[in-house]
Amino acid sequence: MPNLGMGTWRMGENDAARRDEVAALQLGIDLGMRLIDTAEMYGHGGAEEVVAEAIAGRREGIFVVSKVLPQNASYSGTLAACERSLKRLRIDRIDLYLLHWPGEHPLEETLRALAELVEHGKIRHYGISNFDLEELEHAEGLKGGPRVIANQVLYNLERRGIERKLIPWCASRSIAVMAYSPLEQGRLRPDDGLRRVAARHDASPAQVALAWTLRHENVVSIPKAARRAHVLANAKAADLVLTEEDLADIDRAFPPPRRDVPLETL
Ligand SMILES: NC(=O)c1ccc[n+]([C@@H]2O[C@H](COP(=O)([O-])OP(=O)(O)OC[C@H]3O[C@@H](n4cnc5c(N)ncnc54)[C@H](OP(=O)(O)O)[C@@H]3O)[C@@H](O)[C@H]2O)c1
Repeated sequence: MPNLGMGTWRMGENDAARRDEVAALQLGIDLGMRLIDTAEMYGHGGAEEVVAEAIAGRREGIFVVSKVLPQNASYSGTLAACERSLKRLRIDRIDLYLLHWPGEHPLEETLRALAELVEHGKIRHYGISNFDLEELEHAEGLKGGPRVIANQVLYNLERRGIERKLIPWCASRSIAVMAYSPLEQGRLRPDDGLRRVAARHDASPAQVALAWTLRHENVVSIPKAARRAHVLANAKAADLVLTEEDLADIDRAFPPPRRDVPLETL
């Protein structure tokens, strides 16, 4: 799985923005951000259609992630939701298919459907999203649970709770942690320490924030950007290597929590 990708939440919601959204994703792909994260929820399927347009004729080498809504995640509901997503995405296989968050349908059922989708070649891998440690442990004990390859969760400078247990737990099982909203939806607290680190690298605070999520080997970051300048900046973040001094400055500005905190979600 590529470690820097692109999110698509808020894409596909209105026709006027569509051209720019497709262009942003295509630029990102050209710059090497070859993972695209989407979901049936985003724009009620509209984001998947934007992705379809962006990857048309260049599917090869692109890692497509989509998600089933919890309310659709019964056994038959998952199979049907995947078919709808494949149709909107105009591809025959999704690389990684996630349960968007834990819901009311028994997880065993969802996992059974996900395993079947792999067997039928409709998806390459499956995973989950917004699962805290207890839910992960529960999933691990179920049939098909150990085949989960990713947990997509909120992670950025201001939301560091998962560093205590969830990241190490996932790393010990080779489960990728996909950091969503790595820029806190564009609302990261402006901070002098962060600005200093950015200035040392001739970078922007957002680029430092992304590079910081990528410092863990098993963390994948999926910033969303519809603006060209943002896509250009984000692609460069993968090359930014933070020093011990940078990390210490960042810890002072955005301290990690001192005790366990429940998984935060957006
Ligand atoms: N699994 C889940 O429950 C879940 C939840 C939330 C998000 N996600 C996924 O994670 C993706 C990313 O999260 P997100 O969209 O919530 O928020 P985000 O990536 O943290 O932030 C996106 C915002 O930051 C701006 N931005 C992007 N690059 C920037 C840069 N270099 N400098 C300054 N601003 C920049 C974007 O502006 P422009 O768009 O105007 O360029 C947009 O307003 C989503 O799109 C979605 O695919 C998953």
